[in-house]
Amino acid sequence: MIINRLIVKNWRNFQHIDVPLRERQFIVGPNASGKSNLLDIFRFLRDIAKAEGGGLQKAISARGGVPKIRCLSAGQDPEVSIEIHIADTSDAPATWCYSLGFCQADRKHCQTLLTHERVWREGELLLNRPDTDDNADPDRLIQTALEQNAANAKFREIGRFLRNVTYLHLVPQLIRFADAIQGRVIEDDPFGQAFLERVASVHPSTRRARLKRIEHTLKIAVPQFEKLEFIRDNRGRPHLQAHYSHWCSNEQEQHEDQFSDGVLRLIGLLWSLLENDSIVLLEEPELSLNIGIVSQLAPSISRLQKSRRSQVLVSTQSDVLLIEPGIDGTEILLLIPAKEGTIVKISSDMDYIRALLKAGLTAGEVVITRYPEQSSLLE
Ligand SMILES: Nc1ncnc2c1ncn2[C@@H]1O[C@H](COP(=O)(O)OP(=O)(O)O)[C@@H](O)[C@H]1O
Ligand SMILES: [Mg+2]
Repeated sequence: MIINRLIVKNWRNFQHIDVPLRERQFIVGPNASGKSNLLDIFRFLRDIAKAEGGGLQKAISARGGVPKIRCLSAGQDPEVSIEIHIADTSDAPATWCYSLGFCQADRKHCQTLLTHERVWREGELLLNRPDTDDNADPDRLIQTALEQNAANAKFREIGRFLRNVTYLHLVPQLIRFADAIQGRVIEDDPFGQAFLERVASVHPSTRRARLKRIEHTLKIAVPQFEKLEFIRDNRGRPHLQAHYSHWCSNEQEQHEDQFSDGVLRLIGLLWSLLENDSIVLLEEPELSLNIGIVSQLAPSISRLQKSRRSQVLVSTQSDVLLIEPGIDGTEILLLIPAKEGTIVKISSDMDYIRALLKAGLTAGEVVITRYPEQSSLLE
């Protein structure tokens, strides 16, 4: 399943968003245009739906409260709202719609109150809050039905789907020096600190199959790369081991602590795509990858998606990442800073972009190299 439409009001620097989403979606915009804020909408929904330690109040307070989240240009409107449409594919009609609105209770109390919560399955309204129970006991409005097992029996599938949203901003040093750092792993492991344990925890046959597929991509992207294996050292600790063809015979193997940043990030990224059948959020994956690998990311995502029904949302500022001729204009969301907040547009909705793509320019050339500032071209 994927989220094939997103409608948002007053979330951070976005006053209003209403866009369709594809299986592979690139989010492009200059610094501070809201790429991370947009990805955070999906993390926020995951944080509410989380099985352990989830819930609306915690998801809001982790972000500094409603005043931090609510758009500064929201004017008199106190409400922040998010609506998602969940479907089998980007073109299919929505199986589920989930809509959530909230505001701050009052200035004195930091509590957040639901203004509405609605769920539809195939167009049929299953939940419409506030309902009579909420009206009789307004304290109920501090919790979503999504986070309560007792209240979400009819739409548990939405919670299961959102709980699996993965955000990855893998920091190679944290994997490489995991032993030395011996640090506390941050909740949901956004920086990949426990990556090797994650690899170790899956069934050996699944692990072998995934590493084979990653190996296949690495062979295309990394010169002389031959083989990727999982091993345990004599203390039982998990490692990844690579073979390169150019190495002399007594030095054939490298462990993850010797991998380049780029190879490690690519492995982490591909693993996340393979383990997930929900949404994978990749924050500027081009960082620390060389151009050769960056140019392979978009086709690698497509290849992996052929066998998995996952959705991948990638924020980027790299024209090389968008070099693949197969990238469709509908796969690029443009974030265009404007006076009253950032405007979000599907790139193919803009005439000049459609024309340039048709003329044979790559998506990267059109939306990043040629027109880094789209605001002057807003129709
Ligand atoms: N509540 C808010 N209202 C308006 N703008 C906000 C709000 N919260 C954050 N921002 C703005 O969002 C911008 C940062 O967005 P971010 O997602 O980090 O950008 P990017 O990832 O594209 O660099 C900053 O300019 C910040 O001022
Ligand atoms: Mg950012």
